Amino acid sequence: MQDSAVLLDVCDVTVRFGDLTVLDAVRMQVGLGEIVGLIGSNGSGKSSLLNVASGYYQPSEGEATITGISISALSPEGVARLGVGRSFQNIGSLQELTTGEYMMLGLETDWAVGLAPALLSLRSSRRAEQAARETVRGWAERAGVADYLGVPLKHCPYGVRKIADIVRAVIAGPTLLLLDEPTSGVASGDRAMIADLIRTLVEGTNRSVVVVDHDVEFVSSLAGSMVALAAGRVIARGPTAEVLADRAVVDTFIGHASEGLVDQIAPGEQR
Ligand SMILES: Nc1ncnc2c1ncn2[C@@H]1O[C@H](COP(=O)(O)OP(=O)(O)OP(=O)(O)O)[C@@H](O)[C@H]1O
Ligand SMILES: [Mg+2]
Repeated sequence: MQDSAVLLDVCDVTVRFGDLTVLDAVRMQVGLGEIVGLIGSNGSGKSSLLNVASGYYQPSEGEATITGISISALSPEGVARLGVGRSFQNIGSLQELTTGEYMMLGLETDWAVGLAPALLSLRSSRRAEQAARETVRGWAERAGVADYLGVPLKHCPYGVRKIADIVRAVIAGPTLLLLDEPTSGVASGDRAMIADLIRTLVEGTNRSVVVVDHDVEFVSSLAGSMVALAAGRVIARGPTAEVLADRAVVDTFIGHASEGLVDQIAPGEQR
């Protein structure tokens, strides 16, 4: 990959919490328009790496850059303004919102700072609110969840909540989309549909994606290249087929996954 095409560059990033090293000299590059898969067992550091790439965690050592700009000293809102959007493993208290309200948060860059100001600023202008509703309806129709727009997320099927979170992240128009376990807790029959949705939302946009999931088949159906983590370290990286065939990956991750790891993950268990 040419350097000029690198969008996200994670360069030797180490993250420590007290004595615990959660990421250890991790390198990862994501090119413009590329979909990169990030795999690894529970606790291997996948969410922590997304937290670094989105400004939630500061590296203890090393640096992460977006289009060459260091994000190490930026807040999550500052990183979002550089065009980084993400989905979350667990949307927590925001489940009180309707699917439509939740998706509408994607139109507010600062939504994570406070829900009330975000909604109030949208409601301050009826015309802006109407336009926002139409935008959200269009996306909801594309994603097949328009019937749920007025339904609180907590009353929606789990798959609808996951789709709403992906759409909320995409509506913000990110250059780099970070998806943390978009299929966790989703019935295996619905996972191909979520993969199709992600592909549709990204196609022809030059948008880059990092997708984390325990379902290796799902990740490899989307990603041209992959990074595999074990205990905070990169154990393999490269084209998807090569990573899947890597001995260390098969031994430390895929072997366990085929023994039912995927089914052991309870929905909404983690952030
Ligand atoms: N803020 C934090 N403070 C202390 N320890 C943390 C923090 N964030 C993550 N960790 C620890 O870092 C390790 C990696 O966690 P992380 O959530 O990144 O793993 P993961 O690969 O996303 O796991 P999972 O597949 O279960 O979601 C775990 O041991 C976790 O407890
Ligand atoms: Mg995680």
